Amino acid sequence: MNEPLFGIPNADVPFVMGILIFFLLIEIFSGYLHRTKRKFGDWIQELGGFLVLSLGTKAIIVSTVFFIGLNFFPQYQYALAEMNFALGLVLYLLIDDCLQYWYHRSAHEYEFLWKLHRAHHQAEEMGFFVSYRNAWFYYVIMPNLWWVGTVVFLGGVKAVALGLILKQLIVISAHSTIPYDKFLYQFKFLNPIISIWERIFITPAFHYAHHGKTKRDGISDPNGNFGNMFSIWDQLFGTATFNRQFPTELGLENDPKEHWTASYFYPFITAKDKNNEMSRGYVKEDTITLEPATIQLEKGEKYLWCRCGKSKNQPFCDSSHHGTKMTPLLFEAKRTGNVRLCNCKATKAGPFCDDSHIEMKKDQ
Ligand code: FES
Repeated sequence: MNEPLFGIPNADVPFVMGILIFFLLIEIFSGYLHRTKRKFGDWIQELGGFLVLSLGTKAIIVSTVFFIGLNFFPQYQYALAEMNFALGLVLYLLIDDCLQYWYHRSAHEYEFLWKLHRAHHQAEEMGFFVSYRNAWFYYVIMPNLWWVGTVVFLGGVKAVALGLILKQLIVISAHSTIPYDKFLYQFKFLNPIISIWERIFITPAFHYAHHGKTKRDGISDPNGNFGNMFSIWDQLFGTATFNRQFPTELGLENDPKEHWTASYFYPFITAKDKNNEMSRGYVKEDTITLEPATIQLEKGEKYLWCRCGKSKNQPFCDSSHHGTKMTPLLFEAKRTGNVRLCNCKATKAGPFCDDSHIEMKKDQ
């Protein structure tokens, strides 16, 4: 596994560049680059982020792994060089993608990581460069990049090169403005093939749902579909939603849109606005009350009830749960009229009040 792929040193670089140019041409010829509403800060985070990652961060991480390996574990260099190539490739990709699933999921469930990943979800349009839109530090501590360096050190350079090419194909196509699967869903006879494909690989529809603004649209799931190359992890760990549809609204709800320097350089640069979660020392306050909220609901309307107790729009979700393990509850009103929605978040009949707040009041 230690000889270069196709006999070309660093073969993944020209191939990945080829993939990027291919998708760039698609976006140019489809007119997308004329229509885009991206601002300077968006471009710099996406294009600049890509260049810094590819030319700097990755190389520094791999060099660091080699420095540690050669100084402390020299006996393991090339330890896997004789491994069967196909086996090495599958192992490399599965471990890589499982690591990335958990890293990505953690970036939605833990506050510090969420702030490093938040920029990725601020994009209100897809486009293949969104793939590289994260804070710089997000990549520095990304386990996959350290895994890449480790496998190369162990002698798996060929598996890594091919693995990177295959993974980029899936990841970039999942972010592209021209989702290939949208076209394929129109042909019934392709259904069995797509059904198998989407149960193994990430499709654009699967990933677009992750970028959708709100679950209220019945398509999006910003707190699910975390996979990068394979959808198997989401199915295995209960976070998969397959619906083959594309949300019309992408991005974050209630996004105060800090300056791009705070998004990209967090935690080294933070937002100046003290009400922005990217500002230094920002704390999400509890907003629960020990009284239910009496709200007029409309029959057939969908609502997101806040479960995290941090929303500024109680009893409904305003996306403040990002960076925690809590998720809102989606429900549809069965009738028009006033209902008592729980606001103490202790109800066992969510979203409705079951008088749990009375017990809480007694405990105070
Ligand atoms: S703000 Fe979304 S669950 Fe609380």
